[in-house]
Amino acid sequence: MATIIDGKAIAAEVRGRLKERAEQFAQKHSHKPGLAVILVGDDPASKIYVRNKEKACEKSGIAASTYRLSADTAQSELIALIEKLNSSADVHGILVQLPLPAQIETQRVLEAISPLKDVDGFHPYNAGKLLQSSALLEPCTPKGCIRLIKTTGIELSGKNAVVIGRSNLVGKPLAVMLERENCTVTLCHSKTKDLEYHLKNADIVVCAVGKARILDGSFLKPGCTVIDVGINRLSDGTVCGDVDFDSAAEKAAFITPVPGGVGPMTIAMLLENTIIAAEAFNA
Ligand code: GUN
Repeated sequence: MATIIDGKAIAAEVRGRLKERAEQFAQKHSHKPGLAVILVGDDPASKIYVRNKEKACEKSGIAASTYRLSADTAQSELIALIEKLNSSADVHGILVQLPLPAQIETQRVLEAISPLKDVDGFHPYNAGKLLQSSALLEPCTPKGCIRLIKTTGIELSGKNAVVIGRSNLVGKPLAVMLERENCTVTLCHSKTKDLEYHLKNADIVVCAVGKARILDGSFLKPGCTVIDVGINRLSDGTVCGDVDFDSAAEKAAFITPVPGGVGPMTIAMLLENTIIAAEAFNA
């Protein structure tokens, strides 16, 4: 039976340290690190995520300001707001909650955010820096996944890692980060012919597809580490991951639960990136 990687507890510990760092920043500069969150439209999941980010900032000594824009907001209006925030001395981090409504080109918006305030790490400058070596600001979810894996104490160097899902937000940057840790990385996706073949030798499996329980224990190598990035809402209102937890926990040595695994760590990494951006801004 696998040991559960308690993301909630690990994130709480990280947040405790970040709170001290935020307090030190505030003492030195007479203002708190500041995060601006932009929410366009009223996607129910996005509203919950943004509320959770606001609450986490408040608890950690970060000043969060949320800009709620209507679903029919023009792209030019959104970009004008980002440009205003880019030049505000009180704002150290800018996050535009995704997905954006159809009339807005996501890539254009992400490119409008100053790379120095890009706490999501999605700007092409930061994505390119990550690919070449490392970026000051790296995407929160993959960064959180790496931290969670490291808490197990397993040696990453030389391990076979399989990442399922190739999104710009999670799968692709995570594959790069695992390679940086000297893993041998396989990036699987919807066109992968034989997922089972790749999983047979996988010491580390990260599932970031967004489909409920697409992976079960029968695919896994005994003793592997499983990181479940999925947050899927079922018709009965409950939330589950991309991994069938019970069967996977019988095979794996370590596994993250959903909820209480990657999710809390993503928020902790957002707080960390905001503090990194604030410290760099004032360095
Ligand atoms: N929507 C889902 N995940 C994310 C994320 O990590 N950042 C932003 N900005 N939006 C998201």
